[in-house]
Amino acid sequence: MTPSPLVEARDLVKEYGQVRALDGLNLRVNPGDVYGLLGPNGAGKTTTLRILSGLEVPTSGSARVAGFDPATQGVEVKRRIGYVAESAILYESLTPREYFEFVASTRQLNHDAVAYASSLAQAFDAEGASYDVPIGALSLGTKQKVAVIAALMHRPPLLLLDEPLNGLDAKSSKILKELMLIHVERKGAVIFSTHIMEVAESVCTRIGIINDGRLFAEGTMGELRSLSGTSGGSSLEDVFLKLTNEERFVEETLERLRSEGT
Ligand SMILES: Nc1ncnc2c1ncn2[C@@H]1O[C@H](COP(=O)(O)OP(=O)(O)OP(=O)(O)O)[C@@H](O)[C@H]1O
Ligand SMILES: [Mg+2]
Repeated sequence: MTPSPLVEARDLVKEYGQVRALDGLNLRVNPGDVYGLLGPNGAGKTTTLRILSGLEVPTSGSARVAGFDPATQGVEVKRRIGYVAESAILYESLTPREYFEFVASTRQLNHDAVAYASSLAQAFDAEGASYDVPIGALSLGTKQKVAVIAALMHRPPLLLLDEPLNGLDAKSSKILKELMLIHVERKGAVIFSTHIMEVAESVCTRIGIINDGRLFAEGTMGELRSLSGTSGGSSLEDVFLKLTNEERFVEETLERLRSEGT
């Protein structure tokens, strides 16, 4: 039996004036999936994640998250998701400790959530001195850790992470990737965007390639490889460039740069 999807998006269109950011995007993500959204800059990954989290309303089409419509049932959706934005928007005057307490009180979470935040901070090596320093004074990577912890602390079934490894050091990246895997073992799901092919290759159960606002290729790494006609040993980067027709552009550009003596 096909499980009921945690996320279902049908024919999503999003227009910003003359710009059509999404042009009929369809997406289905099941519990147990770590779903990687890949695509060139401006393809529509952030717009998709913002619509699923209820921060943007689609021009047309529909989305469901755990059966709820993010455009009209925002409260129900927010309870079930953890969202990390492309650029973390945090209260810079609060310390991480104060911020997690603030998030817990606004979401009406009990002390377990605050204790879990502190345990995650320990895992990310962010619980020492930086725990009591205003967020505005923290390094880029530490701010990103705070955003990730705030998204995880209420243990939502769905994680929507927009380039979550941005700024994280190797150790913290490894921890976050493992946390994503543990999350789906517990029948949650993760949708995350990334430009780091090795990350997508190592953690995703399924990968969707977005281009010009449409999901035009999707599958496991093996399925995408055969779709692109690349050989068994090809990396996701080769597959991606082939599928997005950017392989030729890269080759020609490199040839031109070499001939110009760059
Ligand atoms: N608020 C906005 N106003 C106008 N245009 C927007 C807005 N947000 C996004 N766009 C446009 O929508 C398109 C898709 O943008 P989006 O941020 O979803 O791309 P992306 O796939 O996340 O790209 P990147 O890899 O660079 O993060 C782009 O053409 C972008 O310029
Ligand atoms: Mg983006």
